[in-house]
Amino acid sequence: MREVPAALRAQEVFLEALQRALARALAGADERALAIALAKDAKRVRPRLLFELAGALGVAAESTALVRAAAAVELIHTASLVHDDVVDMATSRRGLPSVNAELGNAAAVLVGDELLCRALTLVGELSGGALVAPCIEAVAAMTRGALREIAAYGDLGLDDDAWSEIAAGKTGALFALCGTLAALLAGEATRVTRFADATRALGVAFQAADDVADLANGSDLDEKNPNIAVLCATRADPVLRERLLRAWARPKLAATERAALVRAVLAAQGASAAIAIANAALARAHGHFDDDRERD
Ligand code: FPP
Ligand code: MG
Repeated sequence: MREVPAALRAQEVFLEALQRALARALAGADERALAIALAKDAKRVRPRLLFELAGALGVAAESTALVRAAAAVELIHTASLVHDDVVDMATSRRGLPSVNAELGNAAAVLVGDELLCRALTLVGELSGGALVAPCIEAVAAMTRGALREIAAYGDLGLDDDAWSEIAAGKTGALFALCGTLAALLAGEATRVTRFADATRALGVAFQAADDVADLANGSDLDEKNPNIAVLCATRADPVLRERLLRAWARPKLAATERAALVRAVLAAQGASAAIAIANAALARAHGHFDDDRERD
């Protein structure tokens, strides 16, 4: 049997410790908060990012503070998803019925609030409370990004910079928190800005890829969400733009119409344009990491 490479094994051990830290942080919490936070389908992208960055800066893989900070980041993320599902009127999340679909919007907002409070309590116990402010700042930036996204619903004139600013808030801010926490946990405060800038750009790239992945079902089309693939496609193809605006003027998109619109977005090279935007954001992330290395 082939051996599991040491780096992968270290990540597995970390993810198991993360799961235990999440369960501990949620002791006595609402059952739905537990189910969504501990769901098997969760990808744990942000904790993995924090783990890798902190490791690169010399933080020990088994550091309890690292595991707890990663758990706090994941709880903030889960809280944001529970709230986002209310905003998006989503019906499923992480392979489970979404909290809003099961319990209604009012209860879902409260479940999200509980997750957020648990995250802040957990992070307040670390580094003498010094990590709380960056967490609150990240949540505020995410909220502003989500609000700007709502204001941009149905706006096919949104340009790439405006889309990137929304993505840098709703998604990039939490990625940036991972860069910030990695630097702070490593005792490398002078690296915070460069790590935050690099990871914020990673978050923008992730959001562009997530927008492409959304084309698998086209749910952003239902909510008139500013999806970068759709924005690029409708900019390139004015006939598609008019067709989508007409479809949005009707009360509801039929499934067959949604599927046809997704095919038209792909035909107008929306996915490849979005991937080019993701690659440009990745290049910016590399630039910030290179800058960090040069100053080392
Ligand atoms: C998913 O985006 C959602 C986000 C990236 C964050 C949304 C942020 C808020 C609702 C602000 C509130 C924040 C907290 C911490 C309570 P998406 O809709 O593009 O992705 P999806 O397809 O997974 O839903
Ligand atoms: Mg959503």
